[in-house]
Amino acid sequence: ALTGLVPRLVEEADARGVLPPRRADSHKGTYGHVLVVAGSRGKTGAAAMAARSALRSGAGLVSVATRAEVVDTVLSFAPELMGIPLEASGPLGLADLEPLLAAAEGKDALVIGPGIPRGPETGKLIAELLARVEAPVVLDADALNAVATDLSALRGAKRQVVLTPHPGEMARLTGRSTKEVQAHRLELAREFAMEHGVTLVLKGTRTLTVSADGDLYINPTGNPGMATGGTGDVLSGICGAFLAQGFQVPDAIWAAVYVHGLAGDLAAGKRGKVGLIATDLIKGLCDVWTRWD
Ligand code: APR
Ligand code: MG
Repeated sequence: ALTGLVPRLVEEADARGVLPPRRADSHKGTYGHVLVVAGSRGKTGAAAMAARSALRSGAGLVSVATRAEVVDTVLSFAPELMGIPLEASGPLGLADLEPLLAAAEGKDALVIGPGIPRGPETGKLIAELLARVEAPVVLDADALNAVATDLSALRGAKRQVVLTPHPGEMARLTGRSTKEVQAHRLELAREFAMEHGVTLVLKGTRTLTVSADGDLYINPTGNPGMATGGTGDVLSGICGAFLAQGFQVPDAIWAAVYVHGLAGDLAAGKRGKVGLIATDLIKGLCDVWTRWD
């Protein structure tokens, strides 16, 4: 089954090469507008971390669509953010479709999933969004669990779709056990990406990125200090920011994975692995940018 699998190990110069230098005559419109659909009561931090990571990864503008009752809480974590209150209540469902389509107008990338309230209609909502939204979409966390029940949503997408499962989420997507996923990471990731026409990031030690054509990229950065809540939300925000800036898949995504791990390594160098928390990674992003300036 390994025939044709020639994984490429991503190096720092490769990742750096994906990011063009910021032009002197640019403005915020040059760098794109990310829409983050995330958060719920008790999970406002997931939305805030994804959105703040997008801000710290070069996006020109970042908006967050979330339940009206928590929108101000999410915004309070960063005054640079804009909020789009979703007035329906309960889990995300078809009642949110029209407001989200309106919110997606003019956006350059969407990130859907961190901390969303998931219910029986969430998968249908995401399928409708994928079929109608003009921008590339990153699906993470409960957005992955929502589409796992009907994967045909992925094939119906208008633009590129990027999935960022951890091994447990990959198990739900493939109907395997987490143990099987970990035992066959390359094969399962490649099979899934090619079958569904998506860019897939299978997270964990040596995160794998696979293009829809089956090209495999292995990431050397990152450390066990990153095994702490919210670090995945940071990755989805970086992916959204890179796509909004017009970087193409799969390069945008394996570069985002590299940067995320390097931010974690630089943060661990300053604070040690034991005490590392996800917001340290967001600060670590700035250490990546100064290193590359
Ligand atoms: N070495 C390298 N990288 C690691 C390590 C490690 N030992 N442990 C974790 N990481 C990285 C992963 O590669 C990934 O990028 O940290 C990130 C963890 O992401 P998630 O597993 O998505 O964790 P988290 O952000 O806490 O997710 C929050 O979303 O996915 C759901 O079920 C999850 O409810 C949880 C929520
Ligand atoms: Mg996660």
